[in-house]
Amino acid sequence: TSAETFYEAVGGAETFRRLINRFYREVAVDEILRPLYPEEDLGPAERRFRMFLEQYWGGPRTYSDERGHPRLRMRHNPFRIGPIERDAWLRCMYVAIASIEPETLDDQHRKALTDYMEMAAQSMVNSPL
Ligand code: HEM
Repeated sequence: TSAETFYEAVGGAETFRRLINRFYREVAVDEILRPLYPEEDLGPAERRFRMFLEQYWGGPRTYSDERGHPRLRMRHNPFRIGPIERDAWLRCMYVAIASIEPETLDDQHRKALTDYMEMAAQSMVNSPL
């Protein structure tokens, strides 16, 4: 069969690379988010997040090969994530999604991606403040 994955439909590796690179360029200058990232070099974090999303949307399974089960709630436990951090994270993600042109990311795929990010960001909240 040839059911196209979301990953393929939006342009594959190149689109995910652009999306997540744009996201991390926002994180790098965000005064709420930047201090949460333990490493000075954001490159490795960018790569982990990109691998995870590629896998989630039907692309290569490199994330699980390297990192095992995602267990994202658990992996975020070291960081206090309240509504302020969630909203800062989503702001960066909205900028990143907006940077992908409609020819690559049509309305339907854009909505699916945005809905997922909003759901996932909420599910990572681990602090009331
Ligand atoms: C890792 C922050 C939401 C996926 C991290 C790290 C931080 C962080 C500080 C550690 C960086 C690293 O060394 O990898 C946040 C904050 C969020 C958020 C403040 C606000 C809600 C999300 C969401 C997803 C996600 C919604 C998925 C859609 C990941 C992944 C990793 C990660 C895959 C790497 C996990 C691993 O170690 O394999 N995040 N995150 N994060 N985050 Fe988030």
